[in-house]
Amino acid sequence: MKALTIAVDGYASCGKSTLSKDLASALGYRYIDSGAMYRAVTWYLLQHRLEAEEGENLQRALSDIAIDFVTQSGETVLLLNGKEPGLALRSKEVNSMVSPVSALHSVRQTMVQRQREFATQAGLTMDGRDIGTYVFPNAELKIFMQSRPEVRAARRLAELQNAGDTKWTVEEVLVNLRERDEMDSNRDFAPLRRAHDAIDLDNSDMNREEQLAWAMDLAIARGAQQP
Ligand code: DC
Repeated sequence: MKALTIAVDGYASCGKSTLSKDLASALGYRYIDSGAMYRAVTWYLLQHRLEAEEGENLQRALSDIAIDFVTQSGETVLLLNGKEPGLALRSKEVNSMVSPVSALHSVRQTMVQRQREFATQAGLTMDGRDIGTYVFPNAELKIFMQSRPEVRAARRLAELQNAGDTKWTVEEVLVNLRERDEMDSNRDFAPLRRAHDAIDLDNSDMNREEQLAWAMDLAIARGAQQP
């Protein structure tokens, strides 16, 4: 029995974080949302009116940004320089700028280094775009998720509305998801790709419990132990 590193990658709004969180809580592992880290950098740049481009300003910003994950009432919460940006990370502005920001080499290099530091002996689930291909190429379990575009758009819209953001139409959500997938898949450094040894999951017709049961079977087959 061992503690695994589990990489969950895939397209935008496929439910990667839901599955990764559920797996972490079922296995007693740490959960890290790597997308939230790119969102935090994007939000910081927006707040400081900085352009999404390489240069001294970006270097300074990256060295000023401290990102931590803490557990509050059983939820993993991102802290940016000690404060919780919360729903600001999911805002329309951040959604529109996060793909160009995350394509910048120095942003990726800095975030990947920090992501690797989160790996612990006690087990980790991390979701993102390049976790199985680049951040943890030796992860014991890699899952690559997709779901039908209309299912993803409906889920994302419900999530935004639950968060009180009623500025989006379903068509706008779909356009944003497509644009992000396109940019994330076509950037030159660590693009969104299915790792050759990943296991595919299309969860379009699965509920939360079904996808967790599917992934738990795999984790247990790879040596994970339930606490
Ligand atoms: O998982 P998410 O939708 O919150 O991620 C937001 C953006 O961050 C995504 O469109 C691309 C970028 N990202 C990335 O480049 N690499 C990762 N490992 C995770 C996210």
